[in-house]
Amino acid sequence: CGIVGYIGKKDAKDILLHGLEKLEYRGYDSAGIYVQNKAQEGHLFKEKGRIAALREKVDASVEATAGIGHTRWATHGAPSVRNAHPHQSFSERFTIVHNGVIENYQEVKDAYLGDIELKSDTDTEIIVQLIAWFVEEEGLSPIDAFKKAIVALEGSYAIALMDTENPDVIYAAKNKSPLLLGKGDSFNVICSDAMAMIKETDQFVELMDKEVATVTRESLVIENFSGDIIDREAYTAEIDSDDLEKGTYPYYMLKEIDEQPAVMRKLLLKYQDENGKLTVDQEIVDTMLESDRIYIIAAGTSYHAGLVGKQLIESMTHIPTEVHVSSEFGYHTPLLSEKPFFIFISQSGETADSRQVLVKTNALGHPSLTVTNVAGSTLSRESNFTLLLNAGPEIAVASTKAYTAQIAVLAILSEVVGMSKGLIKKGTMLHDIGIVANAMQAIVDDKEKIEELASEYLSISRNAFYIGRGMDYHVALEAALKLKEISYIQTEGFAAGELKHGTIALIEEGTPVIALVTEKGVAGHTRGNLQETQARGAHTMVISMDGLNRPGDQIVIPHVNPLLSALVSVIPTQLLSYYCSLHRGNDVDKPRNLAKSVTVE
Ligand code: G6P
Repeated sequence: CGIVGYIGKKDAKDILLHGLEKLEYRGYDSAGIYVQNKAQEGHLFKEKGRIAALREKVDASVEATAGIGHTRWATHGAPSVRNAHPHQSFSERFTIVHNGVIENYQEVKDAYLGDIELKSDTDTEIIVQLIAWFVEEEGLSPIDAFKKAIVALEGSYAIALMDTENPDVIYAAKNKSPLLLGKGDSFNVICSDAMAMIKETDQFVELMDKEVATVTRESLVIENFSGDIIDREAYTAEIDSDDLEKGTYPYYMLKEIDEQPAVMRKLLLKYQDENGKLTVDQEIVDTMLESDRIYIIAAGTSYHAGLVGKQLIESMTHIPTEVHVSSEFGYHTPLLSEKPFFIFISQSGETADSRQVLVKTNALGHPSLTVTNVAGSTLSRESNFTLLLNAGPEIAVASTKAYTAQIAVLAILSEVVGMSKGLIKKGTMLHDIGIVANAMQAIVDDKEKIEELASEYLSISRNAFYIGRGMDYHVALEAALKLKEISYIQTEGFAAGELKHGTIALIEEGTPVIALVTEKGVAGHTRGNLQETQARGAHTMVISMDGLNRPGDQIVIPHVNPLLSALVSVIPTQLLSYYCSLHRGNDVDKPRNLAKSVTVE
C-alpha cells in the first residue's frame, strides 16, 4: 500500500490524487482520500479499483488545503469501498491511512474495545478506533492518544492521522513500513516514496521506526515515544520527474524493456574510475574477500537475478555462494558459515520479507550489502553497504530493467573482487557488458518478430513452459514468472533435464514449450529434452545464442560472453510476455492481485 499527506495552501485533492497515482505500483485494488479545511468540515472519498476511478468520484467543488490518501493492496479484508482507506472513528472525528499489517489487532481490540462491531474488515480500523477511544473516553490529547495507540501495536505501520477538531495538523508515525516527510515553503507533505511528491518538493526527511511526527503548514516536528525532539536534516531526492512519465509508450513495461541497453551503458559509466577501469567501493571488496560464504537474499525477480549472481560470483571470485528466498530464510535459517557476507537484492529496497532477514543478520553482526535501485531505501539504509542500479525508476509491476541491472552490478562486483584476489588478470566486463548492451539493442529493435511469435504461440494457450539448463534454467524461471504475472497463463520454468521426471505428463497437443539454449556444454541435451516434449505434441520454440543456433530456431540472440547470456536471453522473453499480455487485453503495467513493492510479510 502507499500513503500520502499534504498540508499547505494549494488544492489538496489534486496533490493527493497525483501522489497516489505515482504510488499505484504499491497496490491498486482500492483507494481513498480525506481532505479538510476548517474544523468539522472533512470530506471522505473512497473507491474500489484504480486511482482513476477514485478521481471520478472526488467532488471537484470541495475546497481543502490539507488531507491524506491511500492506495491499497489488500491484506486484511477483500478489496472493496468498505475496506478502502482512509478509515474513520465512529465519531468521524479521526481519520487514518495505514500501510502495513497490525499483527496483534485482535488482542488490541479485545483489550480496549471489547466486542464492538467495527465498520470494516481491516486491521487498520482498530488503530483509529483506539485513538478515538483514548481521546473521547480517557481524555487524552490527540498526540498522546496517537502515541499511546501505536505503543500498543505490534507489526508494521506507516500511518497518517487527521483530526476534524485540529484541521491544521497531520500526525504521522512508522514502524518497519517506509515513510518520508517532505518540506516545502508554507507546506509540508508525507509519502511512502519520494516519487509521490517530487512534483511538490525534493527536500525529504526520513521518519525512523518508533518516531512520531507532527506536520503543519509551517513545521515538521519529529519526536520519539519518550517525547524527545529529534532534529534531522533533509536530503535532496534525486528523481527526474520526466523519468516518471511514459512519454509516447503505451505502457511503462515496454519503455523499461527498451531502456535496458542504456541502463547497461550508464552502469558502466557509474562504476568506472578516472582511469576507465571498473571499480567498486574498496570496503565492499575487502569485506567480501574476508568472508567465507556469501548469502544472497531476495524475493521474486530479484531472487532470479540472485541465481544468476551466484554463478557470476562463484566463477569469478571462487567464494561459495548460496541464494535464498527471503521469506523462507528468515524463519528457517540454514546453518551459517563462520564469516558470512549477506547480499540483499531488491529493486525497491523496501520488500518486507527481505528486510526481516536484514534485521536478523544485523542483530547477529554480519556484514551486508544491498543491491538496489532506490537510494535511501530501507534496505540500503540498514545494511553496511549499497550498490545502486542507476536504472531510473521502474514503474511497471513486472520487473525488467531492474533484473538486468542487478545482474550487471553483480558481474561488475564479481570481476572487481576476482581481480583483487588475483584470479582474474585482465578484466573484460567493461567490454563484455558493452557488447551486451549492443545485443540487447538488436533484440529490442526487432520487436515485430517477437510480437508475431507471441501471437503464434501464446494467444490461446492456458499453460506454457520455459526450459533450460544452468544459466538458461535461471532465465527460464524468470521468463516463466514474467509470463505468468502479466498474461495469467500458468507457466513453469523448468530445468530441462528434470522435465521427464514427472512434469512432462502435463504436455499436451499444442502446449507451448520454449527452450533457452545459450550454453555450449548442455545445448545438445536441452535440445534433446525439447524434442521429447515435441514428440508428445508440444508447440516448441528455441531461443538460442548465435554460434549455437540451428536452422529453424525461432529467435537467435547475438553472441555475448556466456557468463552474461542471461542479460540478453531474457530480453525476448520479456517481450513475449509483454505482447502476450497486450494481446489478451490485460493491463500490462498493473496485473491483477500484484503490487510492485510488497511492504508486508
Ligand atoms: C514484488 C514484485 C516483484 C518483485 C518482488 C521483489 O512481488 O511484484 O516484481 O520482484 O516484489 O521486489 P524487490 O523490490 O525487493 O526487488
